[in-house]
Amino acid sequence: MYQLCPSILSADFNRLGEQIKILEQEGVKILHIDVMDGDFVPSISFGMPVIKSIRKESNMFFDVHLMVTEPERYIRDFVECGADSITVHAEACEDLERTISLIRAAGVKVGVSIKPATPVNDISHLLDEVDMVLIMTVQPGFGGQKYLEECTEKIQELRKLIDEEGLDTEIQVDGGINGETLRTVMEAGANLIVAGSYAFQENLAESIRDIQNKMEEISRTIS
Ligand code: DX5
Ligand code: ZN
Repeated sequence: MYQLCPSILSADFNRLGEQIKILEQEGVKILHIDVMDGDFVPSISFGMPVIKSIRKESNMFFDVHLMVTEPERYIRDFVECGADSITVHAEACEDLERTISLIRAAGVKVGVSIKPATPVNDISHLLDEVDMVLIMTVQPGFGGQKYLEECTEKIQELRKLIDEEGLDTEIQVDGGINGETLRTVMEAGANLIVAGSYAFQENLAESIRDIQNKMEEISRTIS
């Protein structure tokens, strides 16, 4: 149920293929892929060609996080280049419900994300329509930022709603995860943990193993 989702935004792009192999060898199942358009967020990352080329080499689940304005324009493209799930920002969509249906119709899993200032309430009516809710725990746009403590309550609130409704919607968190905040978010109720700078350290295999061990240990203390 708990999964580590390393974010390739922190990868060494000169050795991307090699690093993805290491993640696979270490048992990583979900690869978090951050697409930024320089409009919804200030920065620009990468897009379809990169995803298409790593798709040829990997069987991991490609979790594509679109930090893109009007993402409905690109759903088909991302599915064609190999996305297994597409997560869109509630704030970036003109018609969020329509965008969710378009992603569903394209045959991949659906995620909806909210920025730190967006209340859970804005998306709570959609919990049974999506596979995953991504709670951003930093302002989207850059890796290596500090976890925003005020987001912990949002994770707890969302976990409560999902459990009360008896749903199996997954809760993903993204931003500022490290040795300390990992426990905070897992205890608050997140089960899919994105890690960028914390995962891609000097010795990648070792850091992945270390995080997975920590997750295993923490999960044993959560009822
Ligand atoms: C930020 C991205 C994240 C980023 C997280 O907008 O959505 O996925 O890679 O990086 P860390 O884990 O370093 O905060
Ligand atoms: Zn992300």
